[in-house]
Amino acid sequence: MTTTPWVPGGPGTLSDGRDRSAFPSDFLWGTATASYQVEGSPTTDGKGPSIWDTFTHEPGRVAGGENGDVACDHYVRMPEDVALMAGLGVNAYRFSVSWPRVRPIGSGAVEPRGLDFYDRLVDQLLAAGIAPTLTLYHWDLPQALEDAGGWLNRDTAYRFGEYAGIVAERLGDRVHTWITVNEAVVVSTFGYALGTHAPGRMLLFDSFPATHHVLLGHGLAAAAVRAAVPGARVAITHNLSPVHAVSDSDADRRAAAAMDAIQNGLYMDPVLLGRYPDPEVVGAPMDRSCVLDGDLDVIRAPLDALGINYYNPTLVKAPGEGNPFPFEITAMEGYETTDMGWPVVPDGLRELLVGVRARYGDALPPVMVTENGAAFPDVLIEAPEGDVAHVDDPRRVEYLRSHIAAVAAARDAGVDVTGYFVWSLLDNFEWAEGYAKRFGLIYVDYPTQRRIPKLSYSWYRAFLGGPA
Ligand code: FCB
Repeated sequence: MTTTPWVPGGPGTLSDGRDRSAFPSDFLWGTATASYQVEGSPTTDGKGPSIWDTFTHEPGRVAGGENGDVACDHYVRMPEDVALMAGLGVNAYRFSVSWPRVRPIGSGAVEPRGLDFYDRLVDQLLAAGIAPTLTLYHWDLPQALEDAGGWLNRDTAYRFGEYAGIVAERLGDRVHTWITVNEAVVVSTFGYALGTHAPGRMLLFDSFPATHHVLLGHGLAAAAVRAAVPGARVAITHNLSPVHAVSDSDADRRAAAAMDAIQNGLYMDPVLLGRYPDPEVVGAPMDRSCVLDGDLDVIRAPLDALGINYYNPTLVKAPGEGNPFPFEITAMEGYETTDMGWPVVPDGLRELLVGVRARYGDALPPVMVTENGAAFPDVLIEAPEGDVAHVDDPRRVEYLRSHIAAVAAARDAGVDVTGYFVWSLLDNFEWAEGYAKRFGLIYVDYPTQRRIPKLSYSWYRAFLGGPA
């Protein structure tokens, strides 16, 4: 589709020419962040160490040896960040609670000062007319629990359920939307199978207990939130990707089916259908003895919403000789790529949303796109004295216009999508990539912690300010 580029001051239209009025007036429009990526203040107010505090201080783990000790200093600058959101015109904000701020060693004593921070955040959001959308686990596991085996240890799932109940008791009178876990696939694959994320374990397919225990933790947390917060909207967020085979050959198609099962089915099927994908389709050894009687009933607890994070589709071919995986990921040619090297495929979001609806039918609850966005090499242009600095990111503007249009197209096709959150509000600590990858609508000048809204912030504001 050829689209006219957006010009500052122009109406906030999508790439298909539509505007906000293509969506219902109660649609959630937000931005998202995660505790470790923005907060900093790793020991303030009694916070215990998380696996990311440990991991980032080990040599060679993160690009440039960077860590989240300061990040966006959001723990200190939270009021300024809420004001920036209010200026943007969003009606929702997705943030995560840091488990070791609330329970420094993951079990035992609760740290009220940690809870106080989120209490203040929630109050400030509500005062600005922004609905808090709370994620309980966005990867910062208390280190003490990792020392006892982390997500490989079934006990961690029970501790997570307890922690969920503690947070829900404190904030449930004001927070309606609760997301248990962010991207269980990344927790398990990057954290325990490949070791590129904390805690850096490299167990390949022996990491399956981490998958299962995170999902069990989800089920226990969902129940704890429901018990504490009558009427809560309870969700889990998955990172899904439409998977395609490079050719129609049996080998390539088998590889695509395996990748689809490992990325999508392993997380969607237990939560929505109460079963894991067939081992034949997964095509890899996975010892499932950690799955005990009754676990899948806990995991399949009814959901009020499903969060989907979308970044790109995946193209797959049969594995080459010596490859331990049942697939090989291959580059998608002919697409613009982001600073992460990810292809920009807006229609993949429509395809994904329509695809999950077709696959899961009435088992699929309403969907929220809880993350979507792109990293580009943004540059801060300092202005002469008296004038304001600016950051031009027209590629992010077009990314958002085309991806939100894809959400509208999925809604036209009958998928009940109820929200969309841009990743991210602020440039922040991008895990193993450190600070070099900038995803924000707002540029963060790390040496000074100055916030400079980018062109994409102006576009989103124009879109949100349009007819509701
Ligand atoms: C997702 C994560 C989020 C962010 C984006 C770019 O997988 O949930 O924290 O890093 O990727």
